[in-house]
Amino acid sequence: AYVNGLYTPLRDASVHIEDRGFQFADGVYEVCEIFGGKIIDETRHLARLKRSLSELGIRMPVEEGALKVILRETVRRNRVRNGLVYFQVTRGSARRDFVFPAADTPPTLVVIARPVDRAKVEAGAAAGISVITVPDNRWERVDIKTTGLLPNSLARQKAKLQGAREAWFFDEDGYVTEGAASNAWIVTKENTLVTRPAESGILRGITRTTLIDLAKRDNLIVSERPFTVAEAKAAREAFITAATAVITPVIRIDDIVLGDGKPGALAIKLRAHFHSVAE
Ligand code: PDD
Repeated sequence: AYVNGLYTPLRDASVHIEDRGFQFADGVYEVCEIFGGKIIDETRHLARLKRSLSELGIRMPVEEGALKVILRETVRRNRVRNGLVYFQVTRGSARRDFVFPAADTPPTLVVIARPVDRAKVEAGAAAGISVITVPDNRWERVDIKTTGLLPNSLARQKAKLQGAREAWFFDEDGYVTEGAASNAWIVTKENTLVTRPAESGILRGITRTTLIDLAKRDNLIVSERPFTVAEAKAAREAFITAATAVITPVIRIDDIVLGDGKPGALAIKLRAHFHSVAE
């Protein structure tokens, strides 16, 4: 792991107990997929990190060029060809106080990289996943990728206890916002891809943005509009997007099996093409 200027074995990697990330979830993070040794969509992830930081008034812990070097070096030291790199920035460590510490308090930067078993991941995607739906009880600034993920964790745990992989949040009007750690999509009978607009109630997922690029390249129609849980249950296909899932088909929502219960053809095709557009 990398922690504030030092590379250290993961078991020794630690931050101070008065780190504001620990005490207030006063921090932001990114997860990038590593595919064939390459950090996928790195530019977009770094741009979103900068946006999240600036929304919270936390400064970049190191310059962007240095951060890229640190990410690569962490990936290299862990010998990751296929996997994930996680990086987190907090407002730093200071005596506990709700008010921000002095502006010269150094932010905390930690980076972890770990491999995933690609064969296992592909087998999981080929089988498709189940999702449950839960009321969206998160704060209003879900556009910021903060480490304040307790509602997301509770939702995922509930999904797991019910034999599902993901939980889809829905708003007061019954419209799906997003997954606990992914964006939500459906495919209509007309083969239109539908996903909620990034302007309200969701994180602007990088995989989501790149998939919109891919869909345009393939002359598919993408409709960025809200859809209800009921519409999703009647959809031809559904899937999720995230750096940790790429494009993963959904075959069941609550008790409703979608279509013939097999992963959707379009989702499978898009998944197979994804890395040809991601940078
Ligand atoms: N989560 N929405 C939420 C709430 C998320 O946490 C994530 C990703 C996404 C998808 O964003 P992207 O395509 O940029 O990964 C949407 C990461 C993977 C995580 O917390 O592990």
